[in-house]
Amino acid sequence: MLDKILSQFKPEEEKAPAEVKQVLKAGIIGAGWIATSYAEPLHQLPNVQIVAICDLIPGKAEKFAKNYGFDEQYAKERGFDRVRFYGSHKEMIDNEPELDVAFVCTYNATHAECCIYALDHGLHVLCEKPFTVTLDEAVEVCRAEKRSGKVLSIGFQPRMDDNMQMIKKIVDSGELGKVYYIQTGGGRRLGIPGSTFIEQKTAGIGALGDIGCYSLDLVLNAIGYPKPLTVSGYTSGFFGNNPKYVNEDVCSRFDVDDFGAGFIRLEGGVILDFRISWAMNLDTPGDTIILGTEGGLRIPSTECWNGSFDKPMTVYKHVAGEDIEYQVPLKTTPESIFLRKIRSFLEAAATGGEAPVPARQILYNQAIIDGICRSARLGHEIELDIPDVYGEE
Ligand SMILES: NC(=O)c1ccc[n+]([C@@H]2O[C@H](COP(=O)([O-])OP(=O)(O)OC[C@H]3O[C@@H](n4cnc5c(N)ncnc54)[C@H](O)[C@@H]3O)[C@@H](O)[C@H]2O)c1
Repeated sequence: MLDKILSQFKPEEEKAPAEVKQVLKAGIIGAGWIATSYAEPLHQLPNVQIVAICDLIPGKAEKFAKNYGFDEQYAKERGFDRVRFYGSHKEMIDNEPELDVAFVCTYNATHAECCIYALDHGLHVLCEKPFTVTLDEAVEVCRAEKRSGKVLSIGFQPRMDDNMQMIKKIVDSGELGKVYYIQTGGGRRLGIPGSTFIEQKTAGIGALGDIGCYSLDLVLNAIGYPKPLTVSGYTSGFFGNNPKYVNEDVCSRFDVDDFGAGFIRLEGGVILDFRISWAMNLDTPGDTIILGTEGGLRIPSTECWNGSFDKPMTVYKHVAGEDIEYQVPLKTTPESIFLRKIRSFLEAAATGGEAPVPARQILYNQAIIDGICRSARLGHEIELDIPDVYGEE
């Protein structure tokens, strides 16, 4: 019986990546930690040349290039002179008129300005998550995408995971019936990052933006990203500046949220109950659950919540008068999800295809995060006013 049920979710034949003949010239904006995760995929992909790298910190772009193989040898093998270095996104884009693509790998607070500048200069953009800090910024980036006609994709690599794709397949199969209530968000017992993640001036938002955006994407993507209508939100930061829990460096700089929660009403009558934590005195704030009129789905929370999966999902049904449940075997994604993220974006850029993670969807993700922050400040539920960017004249 289990095989019969599961056979309806069999993944379609894996599509071979489109053969892209055009070689795209790319620039990396921000040579920090996440840029290092781009290095290996970029070396594996034959149809992209990293011709320029920039960072605000003097020498950082050069050091990154040296450590991650974007050196003279690399340029020679890819048939160009040398990788060039700059001190900001503007300097790089102004001096590199032949760039086709920008990878925005900066901290959250500069995502919007880098994306807008790149799109307005005719570049396709892959922007790291979270999309932006505020909804207003996300709207302006979407407007820039629209006027540019270029591809803008947001760096949610968990979308490329086979288990994540399975969630959408299960919902789309109708096995759950009409989805009406979702509880999502995991969290870490104590996992506050340091670096540029913990200050308003660089990150703008804390756990909500860093890992909350993944939890929201996990379920919103599965149900087709309905528009969020209202939010009642809560944020707190009781751990990040408490020396009992964090080191002196984090303690002295921390000024963002380390816990957030929200109760969100979505178009179509779906309720989303969300919570996310970088730190709490609990192992997990709960699994993700999707309740439908014909079935329920449980997606187990993981210890270090970052959009990954480490336990099988369970489907709950009522069949022939009996309560039944079955597990959906955990899949091992056969290649790096970071490779898939970058390759699928480059394919869209080269072929004029749709962005693998479209900004028009992630605009709603950002609206929820922004709504949680605003509602928490105001102390009551708010209505979300999301401009219809793609319908505007
Ligand atoms: N997809 C993922 O799995 C994942 C994982 C970690 C971080 N991230 C995201 O990646 C982003 C960067 O994180 P990080 O850990 O690499 O941060 P980081 O602070 O290590 O690196 C960011 C770099 O961007 C540079 N920068 C900022 N504004 C710039 C500008 N205008 N022009 C040129 N350089 C600029 C900074 O000087 C810094 O060196 C964040 O938004 C984060 O949320 C994504």
